[in-house]
Amino acid sequence: MADHRSFFLDESLHEYVLAHTTPADAVRRSLTRATAALGAQARMQVADDQAALLSALVSAVRPELAIEIGTFTGSSSLAIARALPTGGRLLCCDVSDEWTAIARQHWEDAGVDDRIDLVIGPAINTLRSLPDHTAVDFAFIDADKTGYLAYYEELVPRLSPHGLLAIDNVLWSGKVLDPTADDHDTIALRTLNDRVVADERVEVVMLSIGDGLTLVRRI
Ligand SMILES: C[S@@+](CC[C@H](N)C(=O)[O-])C[C@H]1O[C@@H](n2cnc3c(N)ncnc32)[C@H](O)[C@@H]1O
Repeated sequence: MADHRSFFLDESLHEYVLAHTTPADAVRRSLTRATAALGAQARMQVADDQAALLSALVSAVRPELAIEIGTFTGSSSLAIARALPTGGRLLCCDVSDEWTAIARQHWEDAGVDDRIDLVIGPAINTLRSLPDHTAVDFAFIDADKTGYLAYYEELVPRLSPHGLLAIDNVLWSGKVLDPTADDHDTIALRTLNDRVVADERVEVVMLSIGDGLTLVRRI
C-alpha cells in the first residue's frame, strides 16, 4: 500500500480513508514494493486512494482514448487501464525507460499491457504529434510541473464532449498559498490554477485528495 497521504490528513484519518476504500490487489501491492525500492523517488507515485478514484472516473467516462502525461512506475496507468471499456486505449507519455520498465512489467502482470501505448519522449512532442481531430475522453496530467499549462492547452481542445481531464499536484503541499514560495514549479502551478478557473471553455472542481486533484470538463 502506498503510504504517502494527503498533507492535511493526519495518520489515523488517512488509515481510516484507506480502510474504507477498495484495497489494493496483489499486482498493485507488488508495484508499490518495486517503487519503494527506488528510494526517495517513490514519493512521486500516485497513492492507492487516488488510484481508486482514477479507476472510478474512468469507469464512468468509458473512454475510447485516454492519455496519461507522466507514467513513472505505473500506478495511475494501471488504475486507468484496468477501468477502460473493451476496445479502449491508453496512451502513456514519459521520458524514462528505467521507471516505465517497472510499469510495463506490472501492466503485463495485470493483463492490461495490450491496451497501452507507451511513448518515451517529451510529452509535449507526443501531444503535438496527435492528429488535430483526435478526441480524448480522459486525460491525467502528472509530470513536470512547468509543462502543465502547455499540456492543458494541447488537451482541452481535444477533449470530447463527455471527456474529463484530471490534473495532479494542484495544491503542491500547500505551497500554492505560501507567499514565500517563488520556485518555478510553485509559480507554474499557481498560474495553471488561475488559468483553469478563468477558462470559459471548461467547468472545474478542485479536490483535496492526495496533493490536490483538479477535474476539468468542457462546456
Ligand atoms: C510524478 S511522476 C508520475 C507518477 C505516476 N503518474 C504514478 O502514477 O506513479 C512524474 C513522471 O513524469 C515524467 N516526466 C518528467 N518530465 C517529463 C516530460 N517532459 N515529458 C514526459 N514525462 C515527463 C517523469 O519521468 C516521471 O516519471
